[in-house]
Amino acid sequence: MGQSMTRRAVLLSTAAGGLSRRSLASPTPGLAAAAAKGGRHYGAAVRWDHLSRDADYRAAILRECDHLVPELELKWASVEPERGNLTLAPMDAIADFARQHGLRLHGHCLLWRRSIPRWAQDEILRTRDWNLVVRYVSAVVPRYAGLIETWDVVNEPLALSEGVDGLQPDALLSAFGPDYIRRALETARAFAPTGKLMINEYGLEAEGPHGEARRRRFLRLLDELRRTGAPLDGIGLQDHLDLQLPRLAQARLAAFVREIRARDLFVTVSELDVKERDYILPPEARDGRVATAVRALLEVMLDAGKVDRVTTWGLSDRYSWLEVTRADYARFPHAWKDGTTPGLNRGLPLDAAMRPKAMHQVMVDLLRTSKS
Ligand code: XIL
Repeated sequence: MGQSMTRRAVLLSTAAGGLSRRSLASPTPGLAAAAAKGGRHYGAAVRWDHLSRDADYRAAILRECDHLVPELELKWASVEPERGNLTLAPMDAIADFARQHGLRLHGHCLLWRRSIPRWAQDEILRTRDWNLVVRYVSAVVPRYAGLIETWDVVNEPLALSEGVDGLQPDALLSAFGPDYIRRALETARAFAPTGKLMINEYGLEAEGPHGEARRRRFLRLLDELRRTGAPLDGIGLQDHLDLQLPRLAQARLAAFVREIRARDLFVTVSELDVKERDYILPPEARDGRVATAVRALLEVMLDAGKVDRVTTWGLSDRYSWLEVTRADYARFPHAWKDGTTPGLNRGLPLDAAMRPKAMHQVMVDLLRTSKS
């Protein structure tokens, strides 16, 4: 007995020692915990195939996030690749995971030109039957009622270049005209009576005449929707930053987000990540550049934008959707290698080994400051 007491005492003291060592060794709190101090939320886009098979990744997600966004699983093309054949198991799995761990989910996305299945695009163009949209919305929105309270109803309505009066010339615009955006919001409202309905858009933080034209067109779209009484509650600014492109000065970006808020809409940062300019600098230098860009953006979004939800498009570089392209490799034939993966993008808060980088620290610092 004496012997087992001793053993127990040893085990206890080891456990206690282990605990205190661990707390000393982890000075950075998770992003959601930091955000909560400032009355905000932090989360990431995830894919079920990654989450289900990677325990390290799951642990990192649970440490850092208070909400998740399905990266693929809710998109119409994933849900209904063939007409009438609904595949909701991966989305249901994310929903179960979220319930189990008390995480919220954001609904991304109902209508996006790149996620409408080919068969549906053809049918929409042929029949101009809005019921096709209603079928899909009614299949997904009520199913996650109580869990998903915010929806990207229309994703990326603006055209990359001229488009049709600045709108993306996709099947919906061709079949139903610009009024499809209002109709989509009305349809979403019918199935999500208390949901927060949003439009999600990219490229609104770019410097130059192209960015300026997009911002003007976007505000005009908001005015048009308001005039017609469309049920729009908020705006997601994707904020995929690109270090190769000049970004807008903070004061001008602040003026733009104030314009959105002046239209009685809330603003979120919905898909933050950073595409790098240079893959041959040492990792610390690359991480520093990424963090500087994130700081400049978030300072504006948290202050002028009163943003209370920041979502990054992924959490760890292990699963970044940002690819190093052939063109990048051609520009940087000596791209830096981390030992396993050449020239990996470092545009998310955690590196490929799930360690926090400078971007994480900047986000912790900014998110935990109180909302003004
Ligand atoms: C991307 C996913 O991350 C990719 O895996 C997929 O191949 C294409 O879609 N803007 C959006 C997101 O609104 O839905 C996109 O997600 C990234 C750009």
